[in-house]
Amino acid sequence: MRSSSILLVFTVACVSRAEKPPAAPGPPELAWKTMSRDQRMTYMEKVVVPEMKPLFVAIDPKRFADFGCRTCHGASFDDKTFEMPNPALLKLPATPAGMIPLARDKGPWLDAMTTRIKPKMARLLGLAEYDVDHPQPDAFGCHGCHRVE
Ligand code: HEC
Ligand code: HEC
Repeated sequence: MRSSSILLVFTVACVSRAEKPPAAPGPPELAWKTMSRDQRMTYMEKVVVPEMKPLFVAIDPKRFADFGCRTCHGASFDDKTFEMPNPALLKLPATPAGMIPLARDKGPWLDAMTTRIKPKMARLLGLAEYDVDHPQPDAFGCHGCHRVE
């Protein structure tokens, strides 16, 4: 499939373990919205990538063998804006009814995204999880990474 050996350069041999103190300052001690660009970069590299990689590898070990900044950020990694959401990711339907075909065709993905990826990313950012019944402006949901129709 896709061979992106260049990305191997970004595979840092630094693995964080739950019992150790965080590898970089960040939420919840330091609120994400107050963090500088440099602090965000370091937190992404030292905490987000090592914490999120196993969840993606569990979905598809081959596809996510080179998991890193570009997996989530896409082109915004290359132009260094790190803007999210990433337009290259699947554009999600805006309504629960629209999710039905996705649930049929992409069941395991949807399950992993809903029950593991979104909650963990929200926690790493120190943000509440977006809840359709009680939408909060600062909450983190699928739309934090994916565009929504
Ligand atoms: C698991 C997905 C994921 C990975 C992997 C990831 N990021 Fe992020 N990153 C995000 C999300 C989501 C946001 C937006 C958070 C928010 O809502 O403000 C973000 C935001 C950022 C920001 C802040 C952008 C801004 O506008 O202030 C920077 C800088 C950044 N990431 C750098 C990196 C770097 C460098 C790497 C690799 C070492 C990386 N990210 C890996 C998901 C990821
Ligand atoms: C932290 C960022 C992030 C969040 C939050 C997130 N996703 Fe994803 N999603 C991704 C990435 C990265 C991929 C894999 C893209 C790839 O294979 O390169 C993906 C893949 C998917 C796929 C499979 C797409 C395909 O082409 O096969 C579906 C479906 C999906 N996400 C749905 C969701 C839903 C629904 C939510 C909210 C419950 C969600 N995602 C939350 C980052 C995210």
